[in-house]
Amino acid sequence: MLNITSFDAPLGAKVSGLDLSLSLDEHSFSELYAAWLEHSVLVIPDQSLTEPALVEFSKRLGQLEMPPASETRARGDGGASQPEIWTISNVKVDGVAIGGLGNLEADWHTDMSYLETPPIASVLYAREIPEVGANTSFADMYAALDSMPADLRQRLSDICVQHDSAYTSVGTLRDGATKVGDASKAVGAIHPAVLTHPETNRQALYMGRRLNASIQNMPMEQSEDLLDEIWSFCTQRQFVYEHVWQIGDLVMWDNRCTIHRRDAFDSEQRRIMWRTQVKAR
Ligand code: OGA
Ligand code: MN
Repeated sequence: MLNITSFDAPLGAKVSGLDLSLSLDEHSFSELYAAWLEHSVLVIPDQSLTEPALVEFSKRLGQLEMPPASETRARGDGGASQPEIWTISNVKVDGVAIGGLGNLEADWHTDMSYLETPPIASVLYAREIPEVGANTSFADMYAALDSMPADLRQRLSDICVQHDSAYTSVGTLRDGATKVGDASKAVGAIHPAVLTHPETNRQALYMGRRLNASIQNMPMEQSEDLLDEIWSFCTQRQFVYEHVWQIGDLVMWDNRCTIHRRDAFDSEQRRIMWRTQVKAR
């Protein structure tokens, strides 16, 4: 039996007493997986993982997606060396960042939604953290959709959103990408704004990220207004769990029914995280 405690929030739970460096038996893994589907975000503290152990555990969730190519190409030494792991860090070695996303605020988003089939899960493991800042918040897109005023819910029931692959969640242009002047010309997948989660069968809001998003077949001005309205609704405090990191925390989230953001932190402080992302089956 796993020890699972829900947070005082609409989503998220802590799983204690688990050592992910040891291979989980099938039964415990199914319990963990069921808890993950139920809570959308699981925090598993006190882990001591090598790169292979993180990759091994992540692969239990499914085949791994490679980190964005633009990120891995641009990085210097000092980050994780296994290709499936994306180092998220502000640390620089010889003037070159060892990972992505730096120390700035990362705006609300779900991971890699610009792909036709975005990753279903992301796993983020904290190796070094700053004294303060860099909290990561998660918002529940089932709850947001469920509690939406009928009028707004009705207006988004048939819309599809153009997603953008050019910018990271901290707003920097990816290596090799072209600046987006006009959001309707963004390059990325188009997804319906409401999805049915294939495993829970629940409906969730699926918006990707705000920057350079646009609604298909709608004049830009109207699209901007509707997107602003949806985003300000779904990112309200009542839908959010805010995670304050400890070294050794492993957090796994469901990218189909949550969005997340990260607070900025002092650039003089070090933060090193390892991330894996799991492909849709
Ligand atoms: C990510 C991400 C947030 C963080 O890895 O997808 O958004 O806390 N990171 O660094
Ligand atoms: Mn992210």
